[in-house]
Amino acid sequence: MAVQPTIHDHLGRAKPAGHAARPSDRQALRVTVVGAGYVGAVSAVVLAHLGHRVTCVERDAPRLERWRDGEDPLKEPGLAELLKEVRIRFVGDASDIAFADVIVVAVGTPMGDDGRPDLSQVDDAAIQIGSLAREGAVVLMRSTVPVGTCDRLQNGPLRHQRVVSNPEFLREGRAVHDALFPDRIVVGGPQEARDLVERLYGRIIKGENLFGGDGTAPRVVPVVWMSPRSAELAKYAANGFLATKLSFVNEIANLAQAIGADAGAVLGSMGLDPRIGPQYLHPGLGWGGSCFPKDTRALQAIADGAGYDFVVLRAAIDQNTRQLSRFANAVKRALPAQSRVGLLGLAFKAGTPDIRESPAIALAGLLIQSGLRVSAYDPAVRALPADLGVMVHSAVVEACAGADAVVVATEWPEFADMDLEAVRAVTRGDLLFDGRDLISPNRAVAAGFRYQGLASLGE
Ligand code: UGA
Repeated sequence: MAVQPTIHDHLGRAKPAGHAARPSDRQALRVTVVGAGYVGAVSAVVLAHLGHRVTCVERDAPRLERWRDGEDPLKEPGLAELLKEVRIRFVGDASDIAFADVIVVAVGTPMGDDGRPDLSQVDDAAIQIGSLAREGAVVLMRSTVPVGTCDRLQNGPLRHQRVVSNPEFLREGRAVHDALFPDRIVVGGPQEARDLVERLYGRIIKGENLFGGDGTAPRVVPVVWMSPRSAELAKYAANGFLATKLSFVNEIANLAQAIGADAGAVLGSMGLDPRIGPQYLHPGLGWGGSCFPKDTRALQAIADGAGYDFVVLRAAIDQNTRQLSRFANAVKRALPAQSRVGLLGLAFKAGTPDIRESPAIALAGLLIQSGLRVSAYDPAVRALPADLGVMVHSAVVEACAGADAVVVATEWPEFADMDLEAVRAVTRGDLLFDGRDLISPNRAVAAGFRYQGLASLGE
């Protein structure tokens, strides 16, 4: 079960108020970050915290205004606090690029119609940077781009700069922590860029205690240098592997149910093997979000383009679609048409208001398509586009009032702890479907529910 993180969890260690990093001026670099989405904003704030002089360019005017007001439109834990301690110029025009030692590209690469990422924002940024940046300036590609993109830009609009692939491994909801305390820094580019990149991340690489000390020894962060193509693939490989791991985990959970084994015990024991590891072993409705679905499709497109049949990845993607349908079918089978479902959770995972590629939203769509009515509650999502046909309420009991079944679709800790008697008192039916194996079956039964977890779905 995911636990609601605190600011200290996100920053990794206790942070004395008002403490900001002060590197020597010799180490400080001028950095322009292009794009103030998750990756850009977090990179900008963290680089400013390390002591660099950072400007962040954002072309979306309303979003820019919010950053300028010191607000975090992404609601990323820890970010607004850190933002108060640093000085960043948020600007709408890109002219600062001309003065930058390092330009960070952190624009969106949404999935195009054919599964390949749409690179128009990256290409626009590259043309702008190429026309403004100093000769020899380092252009750090943090957007997730297909293999070969950095080489293409290096030989095209950025021929006078040094293009370096530097993929990010930030998780939404943990992005500040992940940026400050990465497991590794992957860099692909020319050796001449090395000094500057190592200066940029110097304090992170050395494992300096950025927040003033909790007595733990500094942990040196490995910097892995490779070619740009390898660094680009390293990002897709990491997300593709984690997504495949989860698809495998979901299959084990399904199989355990089919043969009368206990999925929790099986997966728990697997996690104790350090070669497997305890993370990303929690079965659910399938993986979602703005990264895994997009990056697995992009990796498949890369393989297809090379004439390589990436059979394991193809199966993992297929399994992910089936995982959701399997659950949706179980709910549909149990309820007559026109029944009402109280849906708990809309975000793609706990700890974020992000609903992009959310399994919860996809589930709502499948249920509505089959004639069920859905009212929902999510602690971080207050409204949905009207065409989805989901009524969003502001409390669990409101969403569940008169429902024939309650369905848990996002692993918010508050759902694990909710007062099940109070919920059962307002529902019409007694079915509780738990798509995240979050709720204690015993508590659910004691409150008068018939509990259906992932391990107890009828085939
Ligand atoms: C993911 C990667 O974890 C980051 O390393 C990467 O930088 C990021 O994509 C990106 O490419 O930008 P994120 O999309 O924030 O981060 O989401 P995760 O926390 O990895 O979760 C992905 C999906 O897997 C979610 O739908 C989540 O609910 C699901 N999941 C995760 C499970 O179903 N079970 C688990 O045990 C863990």
